[in-house]
Amino acid sequence: MSAPPDEVTDEVNILSPEAIRDPYRYFARVRDEHPVLWDPRYRSWLLTSHDVVSKGLRDARFSSDRIAPFIEYKLSGPDTDPLVRQAFTVLRNWMVFQDEPNHLRLRALVRRAFTQKSVVQMAERVRSLSNELLKNIDLSGGFDLIEKFAYPLPAMVIAEMLGVPVADRDRFKEWSDDIGTLVSAGLDDPDRYRRSAHAMDELIAFFRDLLRHYTKHPAANLITALIRARETDDSLSEAELIATCTLLLFGGHETTANLIANSILALIRHPDQMRVFREGRVPVRGAVEEFLRYDGPGKAVVRVLAEDAEFEGARMRQGQRVFMLLASANHDPAVFDSPDVLRLDRTAAKPHVAFGFGAHFCLGAALARLEASTALPIVVRALPGLRLADRELTWQPVFLTRGLRELWVEAGGSRP
Ligand code: HEM
Repeated sequence: MSAPPDEVTDEVNILSPEAIRDPYRYFARVRDEHPVLWDPRYRSWLLTSHDVVSKGLRDARFSSDRIAPFIEYKLSGPDTDPLVRQAFTVLRNWMVFQDEPNHLRLRALVRRAFTQKSVVQMAERVRSLSNELLKNIDLSGGFDLIEKFAYPLPAMVIAEMLGVPVADRDRFKEWSDDIGTLVSAGLDDPDRYRRSAHAMDELIAFFRDLLRHYTKHPAANLITALIRARETDDSLSEAELIATCTLLLFGGHETTANLIANSILALIRHPDQMRVFREGRVPVRGAVEEFLRYDGPGKAVVRVLAEDAEFEGARMRQGQRVFMLLASANHDPAVFDSPDVLRLDRTAAKPHVAFGFGAHFCLGAALARLEASTALPIVVRALPGLRLADRELTWQPVFLTRGLRELWVEAGGSRP
């Protein structure tokens, strides 16, 4: 529905408890009739069907430079904390918040360093880190699978790939958590901003030291590869290089943790599919695509209108925000048969959009796929008695990501 932007209805509330608990059922209500919908509550457009989300993600009128106005507003006060200013400047240099030509310049840098080969080389490490984490879990009672496994694994993997020394890994993980806070903090939470801005300050200094170190002592890691890639493009500043390191750290962490946790939850809730997966009766790669589609970690991506536009019959105005609902698109029955059913051997005419689509398609997709396809079979085979503990499941009350706060499970006390 392309309602005039000033018409207020209570039709949707993207942050209502029902939408947070089960976004798939929630958006199914509107998707058929309203592939494009004006949300008066958050004064934003919502794109809900697979078709319009795919079109929207390829449409250059929808700009990725969505935080610039927000940052200008945040930093407009005369007494803005300089550390907060610095932290937002780092975010501004993230390619995911940029349009062409800057976006392509930054993306090319990472593509030169973050190659398929560098990802494939991590397979054995992902395997041994997964086994190590599992070995250290006390199975005598319930445990939070996110805290003990899903969260630390991707942090360790990306830290190792970047070239972060082992001794600094714990600090690194804390900084990573704090950047998450900076990205998702509400508008009126200056304390959280300040805390995470301090963490960002430490992280910048840390990466600057690492860049110096690996410039003098090149090694087989991403930071060295980024330094080399930069040598072929001297338009890249040190600030952009550091921002890119922080983006890889952030982009590679919570998303993958949520993919692992959401997939385990889906398997526990579908014992028949758990059996098929555990016994290796479906190709793991295909199963991971289904996990991404069925309950992927990204619910939506945001754009902002660069100009007035007519889009799928809706009249949109420059500056208006657009939420592209990946979760809704991935459960669109026009593309996926019985979309709310987990079917690990599913085939579909079109791919899911869990990693986005078009110019900003996730640069870490190969790594995320590798981590999930390596770690998930290890977890379900090492813990054959895996079941949910008697605790309520709470989803994070945010709009862009789909992740549980905790995933308490029991594994029957012993290993096979
Ligand atoms: C299951 C895990 C992951 C999911 C679901 C995911 C999802 C996404 C999505 C939807 C986008 C597009 C954002 C947009 O269009 O605005 C994106 C971009 C990006 N992702 Fe991922 N991601 C995952 C893992 C990773 C990993 C492991 C890394 C790196 C270590 C990574 C790095 C990036 C980067 C650098 C971009 C920006 C690309 C650009 O702007 O051109 N992601 N990701």
